[in-house]
Amino acid sequence: METHIYQPSDVKLAAEDIKRGDLVAFPTETVYGLGADATNEAAVKKVYAAKGRPSDNPLIVHVSGIEAVEKYAEPLSEDAKKLIKTFWPGPLTIIFKLKPNALSKAVTGGLDTAAFRNPKNQVMIDLIKTAGVPLVGPSANTSGKPSPTTAEHVYHDLKGKIAGILDDGPTEIGVESTVLDMSTDTPAILRPGGVTAEQIRAVIGTVDDGKHSVSGNEAPKAPGMKYKHYAPSAQVYIVDHDADWQQASQWVAAQPNKVGIMTTDAILNHIDWPANAEPFSLGADVASASHLLFKGLRHFDDEPDVKAILTEGFSASGLGEAYMNRLNKSAGQMHFEIKK
Ligand code: TXA
Ligand code: MG
Repeated sequence: METHIYQPSDVKLAAEDIKRGDLVAFPTETVYGLGADATNEAAVKKVYAAKGRPSDNPLIVHVSGIEAVEKYAEPLSEDAKKLIKTFWPGPLTIIFKLKPNALSKAVTGGLDTAAFRNPKNQVMIDLIKTAGVPLVGPSANTSGKPSPTTAEHVYHDLKGKIAGILDDGPTEIGVESTVLDMSTDTPAILRPGGVTAEQIRAVIGTVDDGKHSVSGNEAPKAPGMKYKHYAPSAQVYIVDHDADWQQASQWVAAQPNKVGIMTTDAILNHIDWPANAEPFSLGADVASASHLLFKGLRHFDDEPDVKAILTEGFSASGLGEAYMNRLNKSAGQMHFEIKK
Protein backbone atom coordinates (compact mmCIF):
# COMPACT_ATOMS: atom_id res chain seq x y z
CA MET A 1 0.00 0.00 0.00
CA GLU A 2 1.27 3.46 -0.89
CA THR A 3 1.38 5.81 2.11
CA HIS A 4 0.36 9.36 1.16
CA ILE A 5 1.85 12.35 2.94
CA TYR A 6 -1.02 14.81 3.38
CA GLN A 7 -0.61 18.51 4.07
CA PRO A 8 -3.05 20.34 6.41
CA SER A 9 -4.93 21.53 3.30
CA ASP A 10 -5.57 17.86 2.36
CA VAL A 11 -7.77 17.14 5.41
CA LYS A 12 -10.66 16.15 3.12
CA LEU A 13 -8.60 13.42 1.46
CA ALA A 14 -7.49 12.10 4.85
CA ALA A 15 -11.10 12.10 6.07
CA GLU A 16 -12.16 10.09 3.00
CA ASP A 17 -9.55 7.45 3.83
CA ILE A 18 -10.90 7.27 7.40
CA LYS A 19 -14.50 6.95 6.21
CA ARG A 20 -13.44 4.19 3.82
CA GLY A 21 -12.07 2.25 6.82
CA ASP A 22 -8.38 2.94 6.13
CA LEU A 23 -5.73 4.18 8.57
CA VAL A 24 -4.36 7.74 8.64
CA ALA A 25 -1.77 8.99 11.11
CA PHE A 26 -2.67 12.38 12.62
CA PRO A 27 -0.84 15.15 14.50
CA THR A 28 -1.71 16.14 18.07
CA GLU A 29 -0.05 18.47 20.59
CA THR A 30 1.58 15.44 22.30
CA VAL A 31 2.68 12.83 19.73
CA TYR A 32 1.38 11.57 16.35
CA GLY A 33 -1.51 9.09 16.56
CA LEU A 34 -2.61 6.26 14.28
CA GLY A 35 -6.20 7.04 13.34
CA ALA A 36 -9.13 4.83 12.41
CA ASP A 37 -12.91 5.27 12.53
CA ALA A 38 -13.77 4.30 16.13
CA THR A 39 -17.23 3.14 15.03
CA ASN A 40 -15.87 0.73 12.39
CA GLU A 41 -14.64 -2.46 14.07
CA ALA A 42 -12.81 -3.77 11.00
CA ALA A 43 -10.93 -0.46 10.69
CA VAL A 44 -10.00 -0.49 14.38
CA LYS A 45 -8.60 -4.01 14.08
CA LYS A 46 -6.22 -2.80 11.35
CA VAL A 47 -4.62 -0.48 13.93
CA TYR A 48 -3.41 -3.41 16.04
CA ALA A 49 -2.03 -5.20 12.98
CA ALA A 50 -0.16 -2.13 11.66
CA LYS A 51 1.48 -1.41 15.03
CA GLY A 52 2.07 -4.98 16.12
CA ARG A 53 0.11 -4.06 19.24
CA PRO A 54 -1.26 -6.68 21.68
CA SER A 55 -5.05 -6.78 21.24
CA ASP A 56 -5.84 -6.55 24.98
CA ASN A 57 -4.46 -3.00 25.05
CA PRO A 58 -7.40 -0.58 24.66
CA LEU A 59 -7.30 2.53 22.47
CA ILE A 60 -7.98 6.19 23.18
CA VAL A 61 -11.08 7.60 21.45
CA HIS A 62 -10.31 11.07 20.07
CA VAL A 63 -13.28 13.44 20.02
CA SER A 64 -14.04 17.07 19.38
CA GLY A 65 -16.18 18.32 22.25
CA ILE A 66 -18.08 16.78 25.16
CA GLU A 67 -21.11 15.68 23.05
CA ALA A 68 -19.31 12.69 21.56
CA VAL A 69 -18.39 11.52 25.07
CA GLU A 70 -21.98 11.85 26.27
CA LYS A 71 -23.10 9.72 23.34
CA TYR A 72 -21.02 6.71 24.45
CA ALA A 73 -20.37 7.16 28.19
CA GLU A 74 -22.64 6.90 31.23
CA PRO A 75 -23.80 10.33 32.49
CA LEU A 76 -20.79 12.44 33.50
CA SER A 77 -20.18 13.58 37.08
CA GLU A 78 -19.81 17.26 37.95
CA ASP A 79 -16.06 16.71 38.48
CA ALA A 80 -15.76 15.13 35.04
CA LYS A 81 -17.47 18.12 33.46
CA LYS A 82 -15.16 20.49 35.33
CA LEU A 83 -12.09 18.61 34.08
CA ILE A 84 -13.33 18.71 30.50
CA LYS A 85 -14.10 22.41 30.77
CA THR A 86 -10.67 23.17 32.20
CA PHE A 87 -8.35 20.91 30.18
CA TRP A 88 -10.01 20.23 26.82
CA PRO A 89 -8.81 20.64 24.20
CA GLY A 90 -5.50 19.51 25.70
CA PRO A 91 -3.29 16.62 26.84
CA LEU A 92 -5.71 15.01 29.32
CA THR A 93 -7.26 11.62 28.49
CA ILE A 94 -10.18 10.66 30.72
CA ILE A 95 -11.55 7.15 31.29
CA PHE A 96 -15.32 6.82 31.69
CA LYS A 97 -17.79 3.97 32.16
CA LEU A 98 -19.52 3.18 28.88
CA LYS A 99 -23.15 2.59 28.13
CA PRO A 100 -23.64 -1.12 27.33
CA ASN A 101 -22.10 -2.07 23.96
CA ALA A 102 -21.47 1.57 23.07
CA LEU A 103 -18.11 0.84 21.43
CA SER A 104 -16.65 -2.34 19.97
CA LYS A 105 -14.41 -4.73 21.88
CA ALA A 106 -11.61 -3.83 19.48
CA VAL A 107 -11.66 -0.31 20.97
CA THR A 108 -12.05 -1.21 24.65
CA GLY A 109 -10.06 -4.44 24.82
CA GLY A 110 -13.16 -5.93 26.43
CA LEU A 111 -13.31 -3.43 29.33
CA ASP A 112 -16.57 -1.67 30.29
CA THR A 113 -14.76 1.68 30.10
CA ALA A 114 -13.11 3.76 27.39
CA ALA A 115 -10.52 6.51 27.33
CA PHE A 116 -11.54 9.81 25.69
CA ARG A 117 -9.37 12.71 24.63
CA ASN A 118 -9.96 16.00 22.84
CA PRO A 119 -6.58 16.90 21.34
CA LYS A 120 -5.40 20.47 20.89
CA ASN A 121 -4.36 20.55 17.26
CA GLN A 122 -6.52 22.33 14.72
CA VAL A 123 -5.70 19.99 11.82
CA MET A 124 -6.69 16.98 13.91
CA ILE A 125 -9.88 18.67 15.10
CA ASP A 126 -10.70 19.43 11.44
CA LEU A 127 -10.09 15.77 10.60
CA ILE A 128 -12.48 14.55 13.33
CA LYS A 129 -15.14 17.03 12.20
CA THR A 130 -14.75 16.29 8.49
CA ALA A 131 -14.79 12.51 9.00
CA GLY A 132 -17.82 12.98 11.28
CA VAL A 133 -16.76 10.16 13.60
CA PRO A 134 -14.48 9.85 16.63
CA LEU A 135 -11.04 8.42 15.84
CA VAL A 136 -9.20 5.77 17.80
CA GLY A 137 -5.55 6.57 17.98
CA PRO A 138 -2.66 4.95 19.74
CA SER A 139 0.72 6.57 19.25
CA ALA A 140 1.73 5.98 15.61
CA ASN A 141 4.90 3.99 16.28
CA THR A 142 5.78 0.33 15.96
CA SER A 143 4.84 -1.20 19.33
CA GLY A 144 7.75 -0.89 21.79
CA LYS A 145 9.52 1.98 19.98
CA PRO A 146 9.55 5.64 21.10
CA SER A 147 6.37 7.53 20.18
CA PRO A 148 6.61 9.63 16.99
CA THR A 149 6.89 13.40 17.30
CA THR A 150 7.25 14.08 13.57
CA ALA A 151 5.59 12.78 10.40
CA GLU A 152 9.00 11.39 9.39
CA HIS A 153 9.05 9.18 12.50
CA VAL A 154 5.64 7.80 11.53
CA TYR A 155 6.77 7.21 7.95
CA HIS A 156 9.85 5.36 9.21
CA ASP A 157 7.76 2.93 11.28
CA LEU A 158 4.57 2.53 9.24
CA LYS A 159 5.26 3.26 5.56
CA GLY A 160 3.44 0.82 3.30
CA LYS A 161 1.13 -0.24 6.13
CA ILE A 162 -1.21 2.77 6.31
CA ALA A 163 -3.07 4.93 3.78
CA GLY A 164 -1.71 8.30 4.84
CA ILE A 165 0.04 10.62 7.26
CA LEU A 166 -1.32 14.09 7.95
CA ASP A 167 1.82 16.18 8.41
CA ASP A 168 1.60 19.22 10.68
CA GLY A 169 5.26 19.51 11.64
CA PRO A 170 6.83 18.52 14.97
CA THR A 171 4.47 18.08 17.92
CA GLU A 172 4.55 20.65 20.68
CA ILE A 173 4.76 18.72 23.97
CA GLY A 174 6.53 15.54 22.89
CA VAL A 175 5.30 13.13 25.61
CA GLU A 176 1.84 11.56 25.57
CA SER A 177 -1.26 12.78 27.37
CA THR A 178 -2.01 12.20 31.02
CA VAL A 179 -4.42 9.24 31.44
CA LEU A 180 -6.88 9.85 34.29
CA ASP A 181 -9.33 7.17 35.41
CA MET A 182 -12.67 8.75 36.37
CA SER A 183 -14.55 5.42 36.31
CA THR A 184 -13.61 4.52 39.91
CA ASP A 185 -14.52 6.13 43.25
CA THR A 186 -11.15 7.84 43.62
CA PRO A 187 -9.83 9.41 40.39
CA ALA A 188 -6.42 7.92 39.57
CA ILE A 189 -3.62 8.90 37.22
CA LEU A 190 -2.72 5.80 35.21
CA ARG A 191 -0.07 7.54 33.10
CA PRO A 192 1.58 10.89 33.89
CA GLY A 193 1.65 13.31 30.96
CA GLY A 194 1.19 16.85 29.72
CA VAL A 195 -1.34 17.78 32.44
CA THR A 196 0.22 17.40 35.89
CA ALA A 197 -1.26 15.86 39.08
CA GLU A 198 -1.12 19.30 40.73
CA GLN A 199 -3.15 20.85 37.93
CA ILE A 200 -5.80 18.12 38.24
CA ARG A 201 -5.88 18.43 42.04
CA ALA A 202 -6.51 22.14 41.73
CA VAL A 203 -9.75 21.35 39.88
CA ILE A 204 -11.19 18.24 41.58
CA GLY A 205 -9.32 17.98 44.89
CA THR A 206 -8.25 14.38 45.44
CA VAL A 207 -6.42 12.32 42.85
CA ASP A 208 -4.42 9.12 43.31
CA ASP A 209 -1.01 9.67 41.71
CA GLY A 210 0.57 6.33 42.68
CA LYS A 211 -1.19 3.91 40.31
CA HIS A 212 1.22 4.30 37.41
CA SER A 213 4.35 3.29 39.31
CA VAL A 214 3.51 -0.40 39.74
CA SER A 215 6.16 -2.86 40.83
CA GLY A 216 6.60 -6.62 40.99
CA ASN A 217 3.67 -8.76 39.88
CA GLU A 218 0.98 -6.15 40.37
CA ALA A 219 -1.07 -5.69 37.20
CA PRO A 220 -1.01 -2.13 35.91
CA LYS A 221 -4.44 -0.52 35.56
CA ALA A 222 -3.68 0.91 32.13
CA PRO A 223 -2.95 -2.27 30.16
CA GLY A 224 -0.43 -0.41 27.99
CA MET A 225 1.85 0.28 30.94
CA LYS A 226 2.92 -3.35 31.25
CA TYR A 227 4.60 -3.56 27.86
CA LYS A 228 8.19 -2.73 27.03
CA HIS A 229 8.25 0.81 25.79
CA TYR A 230 10.24 3.57 24.20
CA ALA A 231 13.26 1.32 23.76
CA PRO A 232 15.95 2.32 21.27
CA SER A 233 18.51 -0.28 20.12
CA ALA A 234 21.26 1.09 22.40
CA GLN A 235 21.11 0.73 26.19
CA VAL A 236 19.92 3.95 27.84
CA TYR A 237 21.44 5.03 31.17
CA ILE A 238 19.94 7.79 33.28
CA VAL A 239 22.36 10.29 34.83
CA ASP A 240 20.86 12.78 37.25
CA HIS A 241 20.84 16.44 36.34
CA ASP A 242 23.07 17.29 39.32
CA ALA A 243 25.45 14.34 39.02
CA ASP A 244 29.19 14.77 38.47
CA TRP A 245 29.11 14.92 34.67
CA GLN A 246 32.90 15.26 34.36
CA GLN A 247 33.07 11.80 35.88
CA ALA A 248 30.44 10.60 33.42
CA SER A 249 32.66 11.94 30.65
CA GLN A 250 35.54 9.79 31.94
CA TRP A 251 33.28 6.74 31.83
CA VAL A 252 32.42 7.57 28.22
CA ALA A 253 36.12 7.85 27.34
CA ALA A 254 36.69 4.33 28.67
CA GLN A 255 33.99 2.77 26.44
CA PRO A 256 35.04 0.83 23.31
CA ASN A 257 32.11 2.19 21.25
CA LYS A 258 30.45 5.52 20.63
CA VAL A 259 28.20 6.82 23.41
CA GLY A 260 25.20 9.08 22.84
CA ILE A 261 24.93 12.07 25.18
CA MET A 262 21.42 13.50 25.60
CA THR A 263 21.53 16.48 27.95
CA THR A 264 20.53 20.10 28.18
CA ASP A 265 22.98 22.63 26.73
CA ALA A 266 24.33 23.65 30.13
CA ILE A 267 25.85 20.17 30.49
CA LEU A 268 26.52 19.45 26.83
CA ASN A 269 28.56 22.60 26.33
CA HIS A 270 30.46 22.82 29.62
CA ILE A 271 31.92 19.35 29.99
CA ASP A 272 35.01 18.09 28.13
CA TRP A 273 33.56 15.19 26.18
CA PRO A 274 35.87 12.61 24.59
CA ALA A 275 35.94 11.98 20.82
CA ASN A 276 33.62 8.95 21.04
CA ALA A 277 30.81 11.05 22.59
CA GLU A 278 27.91 11.77 20.20
CA PRO A 279 25.97 14.81 21.45
CA PHE A 280 22.21 15.37 21.14
CA SER A 281 20.90 18.56 22.75
CA LEU A 282 17.77 18.45 24.90
CA GLY A 283 17.59 22.25 24.82
CA ALA A 284 17.33 24.38 27.92
CA ASP A 285 15.06 22.68 30.46
CA VAL A 286 12.62 19.88 31.24
CA ALA A 287 10.03 21.27 28.79
CA SER A 288 12.40 21.23 25.82
CA ALA A 289 13.79 17.89 27.04
CA SER A 290 10.27 16.37 26.96
CA HIS A 291 9.76 17.84 23.49
CA LEU A 292 13.01 16.27 22.23
CA LEU A 293 13.31 13.00 24.22
CA PHE A 294 11.75 10.62 21.68
CA LYS A 295 13.44 12.39 18.77
CA GLY A 296 16.81 11.89 20.46
CA LEU A 297 16.20 8.21 21.19
CA ARG A 298 15.17 7.65 17.57
CA HIS A 299 18.16 9.66 16.32
CA PHE A 300 20.56 7.17 17.91
CA ASP A 301 18.73 4.24 16.31
CA ASP A 302 20.15 5.58 13.03
CA GLU A 303 23.69 5.34 14.41
CA PRO A 304 24.51 1.66 14.83
CA ASP A 305 27.95 2.45 16.35
CA VAL A 306 26.25 3.99 19.39
CA LYS A 307 25.81 1.17 21.92
CA ALA A 308 24.98 3.26 25.00
CA ILE A 309 23.18 6.54 25.60
CA LEU A 310 23.59 8.71 28.70
CA THR A 311 20.41 10.73 29.20
CA GLU A 312 19.84 13.50 31.70
CA GLY A 313 17.35 12.79 34.48
CA PHE A 314 15.23 15.50 36.11
CA SER A 315 13.30 15.58 39.36
CA ALA A 316 9.99 13.75 38.88
CA SER A 317 7.60 16.60 39.60
CA GLY A 318 5.39 18.64 37.29
CA LEU A 319 6.21 17.82 33.66
CA GLY A 320 9.30 16.03 35.02
CA GLU A 321 7.01 13.24 36.20
CA ALA A 322 5.94 12.42 32.63
CA TYR A 323 9.48 12.85 31.32
CA MET A 324 10.98 10.52 33.96
CA ASN A 325 8.18 7.96 33.48
CA ARG A 326 9.10 7.64 29.77
CA LEU A 327 12.85 7.81 30.36
CA ASN A 328 12.72 5.10 33.05
CA LYS A 329 10.89 2.79 30.66
CA SER A 330 13.31 3.42 27.80
CA ALA A 331 16.21 2.76 30.15
CA GLY A 332 14.64 -0.34 31.68
CA GLN A 333 15.35 1.41 35.02
CA MET A 334 19.15 1.57 34.36
CA HIS A 335 20.34 4.40 36.55
CA PHE A 336 23.94 5.62 36.81
CA GLU A 337 24.78 6.71 40.33
CA ILE A 338 27.42 9.37 39.87
CA LYS A 339 27.56 11.35 43.08
CA LYS A 340 29.16 14.74 43.38
O1 TXA B 1 -1.04 11.67 23.81
C1 TXA B 1 -1.63 10.59 23.65
O2 TXA B 1 -2.38 10.10 24.51
C2 TXA B 1 -1.42 9.85 22.31
C3 TXA B 1 -2.02 10.72 21.21
C4 TXA B 1 -1.92 10.06 19.85
O3 TXA B 1 -3.35 11.04 21.53
N1 TXA B 1 -2.01 8.55 22.34
C5 TXA B 1 -1.48 7.51 23.06
O4 TXA B 1 -2.18 6.31 22.93
O5 TXA B 1 -0.49 7.62 23.75
P1 TXA B 1 -1.58 4.93 23.41
O6 TXA B 1 -2.54 3.90 22.89
O7 TXA B 1 -0.16 4.79 22.98
O8 TXA B 1 -1.68 4.96 24.97
C6 TXA B 1 -2.95 4.89 25.62
C7 TXA B 1 -2.81 4.36 27.02
C8 TXA B 1 -2.39 2.90 27.04
O9 TXA B 1 -1.46 2.72 28.11
C9 TXA B 1 -3.70 2.16 27.32
O10 TXA B 1 -3.49 0.93 27.96
C10 TXA B 1 -4.44 3.15 28.20
O11 TXA B 1 -4.10 4.42 27.68
N2 TXA B 1 -5.91 2.98 28.13
C11 TXA B 1 -6.72 3.16 27.07
N3 TXA B 1 -8.01 2.87 27.36
C12 TXA B 1 -8.03 2.48 28.67
C13 TXA B 1 -9.06 2.04 29.57
N4 TXA B 1 -10.33 1.94 29.20
N5 TXA B 1 -8.68 1.71 30.83
C14 TXA B 1 -7.38 1.81 31.22
N6 TXA B 1 -6.38 2.22 30.41
C15 TXA B 1 -6.68 2.55 29.15
MG1 MG C 1 1.92 4.38 22.80
